[in-house]
Amino acid sequence: MHPERLAYIETFGCQMNERDSEIMAQLLAQEAYARTTDLKQADVVVVNTCSIRDKAEQKVYSLMGRVRMLKEEKPALVVAITGCVAQQEGKKLIDRMPFVDLVVGPQHIYELPDLVVKAAAGQRVAVEQSNAFVIPPFLPAMESGSTYRRFVTIMQGCNNFCTYCVVPFTRGREVSRSLDDILAEVNHLAKNGIKEVTLIGQNVNSYGLDHDQATRKTFPELLRAVATIDGITRLRFTTSNPKDLSQELMDCFADLPKLCGHFHLPVQSGSNNILKRMNRKYTIETYLDKVDGLRKARPDIALTTDIIVGFPGESEEDFEATMDLVETVRYHAAFSFKYSDRPHTKSADFPDKVAEEVKKERLARLQKRLQEIFDERNREYEGQDLEVMVESTGRNKENQWTGRASANHVVNFTGEGTFVQGQLVKVHIDHACSHSLRGRLIGVT
Ligand code: 5AD
Ligand code: SF4
Repeated sequence: MHPERLAYIETFGCQMNERDSEIMAQLLAQEAYARTTDLKQADVVVVNTCSIRDKAEQKVYSLMGRVRMLKEEKPALVVAITGCVAQQEGKKLIDRMPFVDLVVGPQHIYELPDLVVKAAAGQRVAVEQSNAFVIPPFLPAMESGSTYRRFVTIMQGCNNFCTYCVVPFTRGREVSRSLDDILAEVNHLAKNGIKEVTLIGQNVNSYGLDHDQATRKTFPELLRAVATIDGITRLRFTTSNPKDLSQELMDCFADLPKLCGHFHLPVQSGSNNILKRMNRKYTIETYLDKVDGLRKARPDIALTTDIIVGFPGESEEDFEATMDLVETVRYHAAFSFKYSDRPHTKSADFPDKVAEEVKKERLARLQKRLQEIFDERNREYEGQDLEVMVESTGRNKENQWTGRASANHVVNFTGEGTFVQGQLVKVHIDHACSHSLRGRLIGVT
């Protein structure tokens, strides 16, 4: 018999990458590579990379240092770099890092098993061209990933070209999967016990725009179709650009009870001047109209966002506009970042860069105020009854459970009984902590 071969996969970045890692794990499993969480045991190492910000890319290189040492001990080890840094740097990575065997762009992950065979035979290969991209229909196997919730890729790539963003260069132009393929995949997941599905794409609102106009389906139509699938009790999606958020999509929040009450709506800046230089194609006024529309459709919707501080040319006044915006919207959660130059992007060539010290100070100011707002928001849940999807038992304690609310908060709760992952229960919230809610079980739904 073949001795067990092991694959170690490390994932950086967004849900697209997480899903790609699951797919790669599945493809390698079909070639008899079991997944290991111990780097030292691995016969194949896959580093699935992100290059969205400078810091993300630096994390990749620091892991590669450890992989290099391992390869010195184990010359037969196959080392693959996949994901967005692979796409961005291509063959240069092979030239620069002699211990790397494979460089595989995000649109070539389905070739991984063949490439691993080539690498094991001594070849070093870089595939990162994106012109012949096809998304295979779906992968029927269920070997890897959660037993109750999954990501389903519905499209990838981005045509927006925000001036700071590397994604159009790493993930290429928008490509959508067919409605039938997506429904087949979700049906398959539902039959295998999956309860929650998150539809993912860099720009989900553009779903279908690359399909034939006569037959294409829009993103809201897709959502409605997925919501009819029996067994799926929760539906989420990410990410969308506010400029494309349509009334039809807002209506889904009013009409589809399975659609969770959470919308991630990246604003990036509160200043129209900066939004223009970012090429975001919306103004704060239209953004706020959409916030109102969403709250009309689903009054308890939780809004989250992404914010960049210190974009080139950002004045103190521009930054204050961002501070005002977070006061107006009162987000439930937000990711905020210091601007960093990325390869190929327009803003990397803008002349009026903001000093590192200023960026740092603004980020600290923003994050302090955001955290206060998140705490205030969390406290609003005290005394409310929330529907919670059970995720796991609390650590070391009997009758302690962890789950997630529709608005995506982690909820720790006490309750007697036996619950399974993916089950929906009702929890009375007694106490808000800064990153989670605490309560007690009051029933099953
Ligand atoms: N610098 C800082 N933050 C960035 N993001 C994207 N590109 C950059 C950049 N060059 C942030 C945006 C985006 C999130 C995923 O990462 O806020 O929404
Ligand atoms: Fe990172 Fe963007 Fe690539 Fe996702 S698509 S891995 S966030 S660079």
